[in-house]
Amino acid sequence: MSRIPLPYNPKILELFKNPKNLGKMEDATVTAVAGNPMCGDMITFYLKINDQDIIEKASFESYGCAANIATSSIVTEMIKGLKLEDAWKISWKNVTDAVGGLPSVKFHCGILAVGALKRAIRKYYKNKGVSPDWLRGEPTFEEKQALEEEDLAKLLAKRMKAAAEE
Ligand code: FES
Repeated sequence: MSRIPLPYNPKILELFKNPKNLGKMEDATVTAVAGNPMCGDMITFYLKINDQDIIEKASFESYGCAANIATSSIVTEMIKGLKLEDAWKISWKNVTDAVGGLPSVKFHCGILAVGALKRAIRKYYKNKGVSPDWLRGEPTFEEKQALEEEDLAKLLAKRMKAAAEE
């Protein structure tokens, strides 16, 4: 069986081979996970935030594909030094552009990376017991997509388990 390689651009391949900010952060202020461990597409974001709500450091761990690793890596680069309010405005489209574009079947990998970032920001304020205006309202597109993907993965895992028991 032959596999057709995905048309990843050189920037993605380089970030995949040499990702920046990969690894657990021991002194993180907040961590957040998106994706599903059962299907393997899982990402964890670590943020170190100072008392002015500025991201001092960001790192990630990913069990996703090359696109997920590349987009997560670029997100950690993009948000370093930003106020949380500005980091919140980053969309999956900005991230996709920053890696030089993604094949459409891989859009979800970048969406998951931004979903994890947004979860981390939300969690930070929840832990603090503060609710800034810009954080109120509907969950963002990326957060909704991450939830949908997690639900889908759970459903598939359940079906597989049921099929195995038949
Ligand atoms: Fe699922 Fe990329 S993270 S295919």
